[in-house]
Parts: sequence; C-alpha cells; structure tokens
Amino acid sequence: MKSSPPAPKPKPAAPPPRTTLTAVEMGARQREISVSEFFTKNRHLLGFDNPRKALLTCVKEAVDNALDACEEAGILPDVAVKLEAVANGGAAPPPSQATRFRITITDNGPGIVRQQIPPIFAKLLYGSKFHRLRMSRGQQGIGISAAGMYAQLTTGKPVQITSRTGARAPAHYFEVQIDTKKNEPRILEKKQIAWESPRGTQVAMEIEGRYQKGRASVDEYLEQTIIANPHVKLTYVTPEGETKEYPRTYEQLPPSPREIKPHPYGIELGMLLKMAQDTKSHSLSGFLSSDFSRVSPPVAAEICKTAGLSPNARPRDVHGQAAENLYKAIQSTKIMAPPTNCLSPIGERALLAGLYRQIKGEFYTAVTRPPSVYRGNPFVIEAGLAFGRAPEQGEPAQPKKAIPLAEGEDDQDDHELARVIRYANRVPLLYQPSACAVTTAVLDTTWRNYGVAQSRGSLPAGPMVIFVHMASVWVPFTSESKEAIAEYDEIHKEITLALRECGRRLGAFLRRRERAHSEFRRRNIFELYIEEIVQSCNRLKGGRLATAKLKDQLLKMATKITGGGKTDELLGKNGSGPEGLPHSIIVTPEGVEAHGAHARTKA
Ligand SMILES: Nc1ncnc2c1ncn2[C@@H]1O[C@H](COP(=O)(O)OP(=O)(O)OP(=O)(O)O)[C@@H](O)[C@H]1O
Ligand SMILES: [Mg+2]
Repeated sequence: MKSSPPAPKPKPAAPPPRTTLTAVEMGARQREISVSEFFTKNRHLLGFDNPRKALLTCVKEAVDNALDACEEAGILPDVAVKLEAVANGGAAPPPSQATRFRITITDNGPGIVRQQIPPIFAKLLYGSKFHRLRMSRGQQGIGISAAGMYAQLTTGKPVQITSRTGARAPAHYFEVQIDTKKNEPRILEKKQIAWESPRGTQVAMEIEGRYQKGRASVDEYLEQTIIANPHVKLTYVTPEGETKEYPRTYEQLPPSPREIKPHPYGIELGMLLKMAQDTKSHSLSGFLSSDFSRVSPPVAAEICKTAGLSPNARPRDVHGQAAENLYKAIQSTKIMAPPTNCLSPIGERALLAGLYRQIKGEFYTAVTRPPSVYRGNPFVIEAGLAFGRAPEQGEPAQPKKAIPLAEGEDDQDDHELARVIRYANRVPLLYQPSACAVTTAVLDTTWRNYGVAQSRGSLPAGPMVIFVHMASVWVPFTSESKEAIAEYDEIHKEITLALRECGRRLGAFLRRRERAHSEFRRRNIFELYIEEIVQSCNRLKGGRLATAKLKDQLLKMATKITGGGKTDELLGKNGSGPEGLPHSIIVTPEGVEAHGAHARTKA
C-alpha cells in the first residue's frame, strides 16, 4: 500500500481584525436599566427560576400579603386559595400534566383604595413596608408585582384585582400590566362591579407553572403556614378540585407589632450621612434623639461631646472627618438595646398547638428565646420539636426490643433524618436550606448529647421535625426571593441556644422513657413469678393461705419497686387525659401529658 503524501496543512485563517471602540462609541451604548427590565432577566432572584417554584412563589406572595394586611388592620384572617389547571389550547389537561394555572387568592382584609391598586400590582418596588421598621411578612415592596410580571411574561395575561374597603363602598375591578421599560402600571380595564364580599381583596393571575405535591409544594407551604399561624382560617381548592379546610385553632390575633426607629448601632456611615441630610431636626443633638431609638437627649449630648462636635451643629453640615468622628462616637457610647415590643413572636403555647395539630408525634416542645439584636435590629428566635411517630390509638406503645442490636446494625429509625422547617416572620421558607443560618445551627448542634443519633456533618437521625422561627423588624435574607436567613453571629447563637433547650427537654424525655421501659420489663418478670411464689407459700402453710390477698400484695409491691404509676404514665398505660399545652407535651396512646410551668392549666 502506498501511502498518499500528507495533505498540505490549511493555513490558519487570519483572525478577524479586532474592532476597537472609543470611549465616545462606548458611551453611546450606556443606557439606564429599569428595575423591571432587570428583574425580567434575573427572575430567579425573585423565586421564578422554574415553573414549579414559580407557582409556589405566586401563591406565597399573595397569601403573605393577605395575612399582613389582615393583621395590620386587626382582622382575623380568612383566606381562600384556589388553583386551576388552564387549557393552553384544547381541553384542560390533568393537573399533573398542566403547564398553565390560574391562581386566585381572596382575603377578608381591609381592601385597597382605588388609586393604589395599579402601582401595588404593576410597579416593582412599591409598597408600604420597606420604609419602616416593623415586623411583617413582606418588606421589600416587590413581591406581588413581580408575580404579576411573571404572569405577563409567561402567558401575556394581566393581573385581575377586585377590592372593596367596606360594605358601603363599591367594589373596584382592575386589570393591570407592567410597562417594563418605565416600571409603571398600564391599566387595561377598570370598573365598579358587584361583589359578594363586604370587604377584602381578590387577586387572580394566570401563569406558566407546574403542580406537584411533596417537598416545597404549594400544599406543603400552606400546611406549614398553618403551623406558625394558628389564628388563620384557610380554604384551599387544589387543582384536582378538592377543597381542604383548615379551621382557625387560635382565636386571637397576634399582638400588633409596633414600628420602631433604627437603632444607632445598626447604622452604617453612609446611612448616617443620608439620614443627616434628610432629617427635619435643626440640631445635631435633636437629630440623634429624634431619629434613632434609645437615644435620649443626655445620650445625644454625650455622643456629640465624644465626637468633638457641637450639639447645635446643623446635621447637614456634618460630613467628612466630622461624620466619621460622629460614627465612631456612636459606636463607643453605651446605648440601651432597642425596644423589643416591636416583635410579635408566635409564643410557646400557640406554637405547641400548631405543631401538635399538623405533625403526628409522641413528644413536643417549644421555646421562645428572649429578644436579641443583630446590626441594631431586634429579633426573637423560637424553636420547637416534634419527635416520634403517632402512637396507634388504643394500642399501647410497645417497649423497644430487648435484644441488643448487632454491631453495625441500626434501628429502623436511624435511617430517617430529621426534617427542619424554617420560618421568617411566620412565613415558611421552602428553598435554599443549605444557605440558611437555621440549617447550619441545626448541623452545629451536638444532638448526640440528647440521645439522638447523628453522623458527623449531617442532620440528626430519627422521626423528628425541628421547627425554627426568626421574628424580626428586618430579616436578613440572602436574596430578594426571601428563602434563606443570612449567617449573622448573633442569629446563629440564638438559634443554637433555642435548639439546645429543645434538645435538653427531648433528652430528658427519652431518658425517662427508656428508664420506664426497663422498669416495665422488670415488673413483667416479677409478675411472671408471683403466681408460683403464692402457690409455694400456700403449700408451706398447708393450703391455709389467703392466696388472692397475697398475690394482690405482691403485685402491688412489684409495681411500687418498678417506678409505680409514673412508669405506666410514661408508657401511656394509665389513660391520663389531656392537660393543656405547657412547654412540653408528651403524647401517649391514651392522650396528652403536659409538663412545665403551665402543666395544670386546662387547654
Ligand atoms: N391583599 C392586600 N390587601 C391590602 N394591601 C395589600 C394587599 N396586597 C398588597 N398590599 C399592599 O401592597 C404593597 C405591596 O405589596 P408587595 O407584595 O409588592 O410588597 P410588600 O409586601 O411590601 O413586600 P415584599 O416584596 O417583601 O412582599 C404592600 O406593602 C401592601 O401595602
Ligand atoms: Mg408582599
């Protein structure tokens, strides 16, 4: 075979001549970007990264707003959520196949005044909550308009709003869309309509989405919402057409949180300068004492003195080195921590009630920590635990197998990892668990100390739900989609302390139950021999013994030396009834047992 001569290598094509641009040409390309254009391209930042999550986000934004509005207006919330699969040409597909959904959320809140409807639903960064420090679910003024924008982007349909402010006022109906270039509302329809509700708001939108049950689904979000909000009545019509009713179990609204001023420790230099520019006060000391919380006139005078500034200086004139001195003086002055009556935690009792209702288990506990502060913002951490499986009603819990496990052999329970449910201002957080301060605090807790198995670097094992709630005037989310809490040292520490307290209570319960199990086994062995002993004694006495009486006495002694009634109680064999909801409840097949400060108060 003759090899053909190698083909001559083609000459590499000369690279296209580099185009160079002048600053003027580059300058001509600079353009302003409106927030709506920005978030249209970056919609994952707002929680619209895939169709399943988008469906959840839209429901969540509307429900959170409904609950905020009701609570702020002092109305016990009554919210209805309806999901419908929509045909995209042809007949409506089954919900699991559908790619388009109509979402309708109705509340009995205060309603919205007519002029505000278009900007609320069709202008990003418009809202009543951003500029004040008050605990609420929403804080950014972007949630519901972003949902509307997503609807517009994926189906082209406008958001439909019906709102009424009272039985005497007419109901207004609007259809709006966002002009993304200008970030301004475009009104496609507005009219007065007849509406059966005397007061409230209804939002309806059609979006591209996917409906799937399970983790991080709409169903899970609603169920978790109920745990942290037992004062809410919720009706949910699933895409399958099933109506789920969640009645109110707590008849009181949470105390209305107060609005506070920023605390000086939480203010950065730039913010301090801006506040000094915007203030209505004419003197530096007036500015400090009226625009910040916990700065009394004497404290303001002290700050001015430390900074070497006149208390009568005009706040606007404070800049440059003087501003830096002022900032340093604030940091070095002792100022009381911010007030904490601006927070409205769920509370141990309501939390226990919520956990007990939604999660099946054998042991429950809840802890509300005292308020703490990060970056000048007050916050409260609450934690709860639901442990175990639901005891079969009527059938006493069986003591654990007495046979020791072989090396390497695990109890069935140990394969199951604990589930962590996270909340911020009563809103369940369903995504980005690994980015959240809650998850790291759960992982950093040594659960083995409390009798729960845990492999290194992983969640504790066992049938357990761990609940953590952060209530704050400003929750530091890691992104605009509000899915994970940022890792501040103070927050991490508080979560850890709350978890440890729950862990200690769980540990005590597990130890006591284990002891009760072994006492019970011992008692069974005694009982096995009592009959024989009675017969032997009777024979010794020539058959003249009151056997029934002796047997009874021996049985009583066996019970007494094996923990007495307490053992039965712990194992749920004595039918103790529900005793209310103190900080821990233990559920046995016969009922609920209460422990703690309020153990004797009836529910
Ligand atoms: N159902 C409702 N009833 C009454 N007012 C509402 C309702 N929904 C929204 N609002 C008002 O519209 C504003 C804007 O809502 P939006 O969800 O866009 O922002 P937000 O709730 O303030 O903050 P976030 O972006 O964090 O959700 C709210 O601040 C509230 O004042
Ligand atoms: Mg909102």
